[in-house]
Amino acid sequence: MSVQNEIRRLAAPDIRARKGGEPIVCLTSYHAHTARIVDAYCDVILVGDSLGMVMHGLETTVPVTLDMMILQGHAVMRGSKRALVVVDMPFGCYEASKEQAFTSAARVMKETGCGAIKIEGGRRMAETIAFLTERGVPVMAHVGLTPQAINTIGSFRAQGRDASDWAPIEADARAVAEAGAFAVVLEAIAEPLGRRVTAQIAIPTIGIGASATCDGQVLVLEDMLGLSPRVPKFVKRFGELGPSIEEAVKTYAQEVRARTFPGPEHVYPMRSTSVSKLPERGKGPSRA
Ligand code: KIV
Repeated sequence: MSVQNEIRRLAAPDIRARKGGEPIVCLTSYHAHTARIVDAYCDVILVGDSLGMVMHGLETTVPVTLDMMILQGHAVMRGSKRALVVVDMPFGCYEASKEQAFTSAARVMKETGCGAIKIEGGRRMAETIAFLTERGVPVMAHVGLTPQAINTIGSFRAQGRDASDWAPIEADARAVAEAGAFAVVLEAIAEPLGRRVTAQIAIPTIGIGASATCDGQVLVLEDMLGLSPRVPKFVKRFGELGPSIEEAVKTYAQEVRARTFPGPEHVYPMRSTSVSKLPERGKGPSRA
């Protein structure tokens, strides 16, 4: 018999059961410290491959590796207790075959302890999603704008802004739901399409630029905190951390230069017994 943690983590079926109910709150996190804060308020923490752009300053998510995802996934698991942690599968580690996807997903789950993985793609990934879920890997799908496809789509632009473009996106969402995904991210799609897809499928939709009618919402933490220099239209800045971090760094630099930091309260005094043994200033042993 195993010893259970005091706080039970949410699992993929808990999120799946929230379809049409209380909105699912999701944010990204890549580190233990931010995971601890996000964990207190969110149902799902996504270790997104956006970490390539946010943490590493990459232009796209394409160069992100499985090792990068595992390292940060592990950090987020250590920093959180309650939320379902979903780790993104990076470009190139799941598309070649369903077997490749299983090998990569199993490694992510074993090495991080996360509760689910996310993959981009609709109909083309349906067979893989079924293969993974049948073998114990809960899958969050991702349709609409799929940033890993940047080199074929050409730009990070919103999808489905003409009704004539809706059918393939609706078909993608239906396909991943029928294949067994427990939820699907809808990224950057026209507002009425977000509403239609949410009404059409049996699994929760997690919107990011896809309307308030989705079953939940996700944002990249650094974007909503005001740390990212450029953000898409769908991001609301819930904080302005950039200017306050800059102010703190500026003041630190000034105080170090002025020798006002560290102050007496930040230094370690000597133990009282040894103070008396210290040579008085200027009366130390003279050089021979
Ligand atoms: O990588 C990521 O952060 C994501 C979200 C934008 C959904 O996939």
